Amino acid sequence: QTIYLKDYTPPSFEVLSIDLTIQVHDDHTLVHSKLVMQRLTSGDLTLCGRDLELLNISLNGNVLTPDDYNIDPEQLIIKNAPDQAEFSISVKIHPESNTQLEGLYQAGNLFVTQNEPEGFRKITFFPDRPDVLTVFTTRIEADKKYPTLLANGNLVEKGDLPDNRHFAIWHDPTKKPSYLFAAVIGDLAVLKDSFITMEGRKVALEIYALAQDLPKCHVAMQALKDSMKWDEDVYGRPYDLDNYMIVAVSQFNMGAMENKGLNIFNTVCVLADPEITTDPAMFYVKSTIAHEYFHNWTGNRITCRDWFQLCLKEGFTVFRDQSFSETLQSAAVQRIDDVSSLKSVQFAEDAGPLSHPPRPDHFVEINNFYTATVYDKGAEIARMMANLLGPEKFRQGTDEYFRRHDGQAVTVEDLVDSLSDGSGVDLHHFLPWYSQPGTPCVKGTGHYDASAKTYTLKLSQSTAKRPNYPEPQALPIPVGVALFDKNTGEQLQLQGNALQQNGVKDGLFVLDQAEQTIVFEQIHTEPVVSLLRNFSAPVLLDFAYSDEDLAFLLANETNGFNQWQAAQMLLERILLQGHDPAVYLDAIAQALPQVADTDALLASRLLDIPSESYLASRIDQNFNPAEVHEKREVLLKALADKLKTYWAQAYQALPIVAFEDNSVEMGKRAYRNVVLGFAVRANVEGALDWASQQYDNAVCMTERLGALRQLVWNNAPDAQARLEDFYKRFKHEDLALDQWFAVQAGNPKGNVQLARQLMQHQDFDWSTPNRIRSVTGHFAGNPILVWTQEGMQFYTEIAKRLDQQNPVLGSRILQLLSRWYTLAEPMRSEARTILQALKGQVSSSSVCETLNNLL
Ligand code: ARG
Ligand code: ZN
Repeated sequence: QTIYLKDYTPPSFEVLSIDLTIQVHDDHTLVHSKLVMQRLTSGDLTLCGRDLELLNISLNGNVLTPDDYNIDPEQLIIKNAPDQAEFSISVKIHPESNTQLEGLYQAGNLFVTQNEPEGFRKITFFPDRPDVLTVFTTRIEADKKYPTLLANGNLVEKGDLPDNRHFAIWHDPTKKPSYLFAAVIGDLAVLKDSFITMEGRKVALEIYALAQDLPKCHVAMQALKDSMKWDEDVYGRPYDLDNYMIVAVSQFNMGAMENKGLNIFNTVCVLADPEITTDPAMFYVKSTIAHEYFHNWTGNRITCRDWFQLCLKEGFTVFRDQSFSETLQSAAVQRIDDVSSLKSVQFAEDAGPLSHPPRPDHFVEINNFYTATVYDKGAEIARMMANLLGPEKFRQGTDEYFRRHDGQAVTVEDLVDSLSDGSGVDLHHFLPWYSQPGTPCVKGTGHYDASAKTYTLKLSQSTAKRPNYPEPQALPIPVGVALFDKNTGEQLQLQGNALQQNGVKDGLFVLDQAEQTIVFEQIHTEPVVSLLRNFSAPVLLDFAYSDEDLAFLLANETNGFNQWQAAQMLLERILLQGHDPAVYLDAIAQALPQVADTDALLASRLLDIPSESYLASRIDQNFNPAEVHEKREVLLKALADKLKTYWAQAYQALPIVAFEDNSVEMGKRAYRNVVLGFAVRANVEGALDWASQQYDNAVCMTERLGALRQLVWNNAPDAQARLEDFYKRFKHEDLALDQWFAVQAGNPKGNVQLARQLMQHQDFDWSTPNRIRSVTGHFAGNPILVWTQEGMQFYTEIAKRLDQQNPVLGSRILQLLSRWYTLAEPMRSEARTILQALKGQVSSSSVCETLNNLL
């Protein structure tokens, strides 16, 4: 059943308060609720409910009988409801057998909730929609073997009950939608700290985890305090409640959840320790902590009117966490990493049958829309508007947004209205970015006229037509522009007239027509233009650069991001258009050693080669995975050979030292691993022994895993022994063991049989999404293995298995096959047959919607 944005209607009742009692027992849980509701508009009183056993319901003191309501598997509709309605409802649920990880579920010895987007209706009957906000009072009762009883807000009371049971009552003074409700019942240890807000209020900070994991919570705690400070400094937003709790759970579908005052986190997003966590994973912990914290203002205090507006909170919040992360490490590298993921995941999604606008206009299952497009393209839209305004005006705009809408459930239009009115700059022409799918392509040429002293830039934009979007419109595309002197490499200072006449303001030109020409005057020397600086818009750029121009930018651009971007453009030409690699190889060989000496982290990224998945997203028909793989391998080998003597020197110059968590040391560790990979590839003598030594002497996971990867992926004689060592060392550390599965599943020289064996291993666990993803996600990094009949069957079998058990996850795994139709024959027909065979074998709305979109 498809739901449309245009059909939105406001709720007919508001909920003034809810009193919830959750009684947890071993084989069932009872939920009693008292809802005080009041009519807003005419219309039925509808309460959502799914998989609930209704025990009794009364309205204004009178017990209702089945004649008084209509009930179906999705909802309870009260006939002729009075304007003032007080309901008492009791239901029975089964968290102990809830494998879908939505609503209230038991994970090991812990009961937790996941209610976004529509999990609350699996806990009790309620108008489960984000525009119904209410005040929650929650009483939890459980056996004393579960000493930890948590819910949102402040602890009001706790005490004993008969039969070795106890209770706790929590009251959350802020109104919130049901998707932000959370409860936790278990036996957890807690790390405590505190933060004093800019208003001088003391906030108690608590991170709950299994006792053995508590030492791994310090990185997250520091990140939380840093995030709280950052949101005060940059957005003027202090925290509002007296406490902020975070709970770590190992079985979780997504990264984390911003429940008001009681975040619930996948362990992989909160636990961090150098011994078991790589540097990028530790960074991911910090940015996820920031993301969920920032939701308190962008998501919780101001929430979404309906789920079509998801990117209102997610896009904006991702932009905020990316900006925060730019202050933790090199801003250029942060931007490289964010753009690199945008291009390989979001661009790929937007180029296939699952393409959708950041704000979709219809869906069957909202769970299918927690996508790279909603999150990451949504973040790019917020970033474009922020960049165009500059920090001061953007702050005026966001101040206005918080002033106007605090406590409300709003839309994307409300955000753009506020930013425009607050800053005094009209941004409404950005709205189509939210409602049009596809990645725009900017094409262009440049011409220098030496006698007229002008440089003329012609730019045009186009977006591919898609079903339902036959007439894509021109969007406002901010293009970061700079000119560099071709002879000296210096950036030209554009001043006075040149700026006024050509429409470039603060280095940004807004391309908002199908075609535009910009003339730069008083240009006294031949320039090289640098475009889309800092990735000023989420577009593909196809500019008539010579390869030499790009090599020039790789060498002379002043921002590390732009250097990286120039290298990427050269690489795409080599890998997709068959250009000769010589220009690239010379340029990188020239630039690398110097960058490595000053900024090893940036150097590690300059050696990025576009992933096979990204390259695949740029090929729309007759895609031959083996051919793409082979081309990429040839290039990697040429790069390895070109710098063979350098790798050897560079590796020796980077001895392992004590672990420090700062970007200089992190840069060295990242670079050491990249260099090791090239040294092995170049057959530098002894390189595989270096890998074994690095494994044995490693002081942190970044070093150990980096070495293990080289050993395993190159079938080194030492690989098996090190794998066994790794297993013994980390058998009891789930997150490290995930890496053990991942490194084997991701082996480019592996095969489907190996992946299947991993899923038969005694430590494989179908109830833990992290473990499933450690195999399915990493195996997917190798399109040559995925796009075989066995590979595709492997994925459809998993989707089928998860269809009932965990449809949200099953759907995501199926999405990995979305570009099947680009394959060359006979692979394409085989793929269709395999996908068609899945039809009729699956029934969840999540998996069915994805499968229908794919076929
Ligand atoms: N709001 C969460 C976040 O991005 C994600 C929750 C998604 N959950 C889900 N079942 N789709 O921080
Ligand atoms: Zn989020």
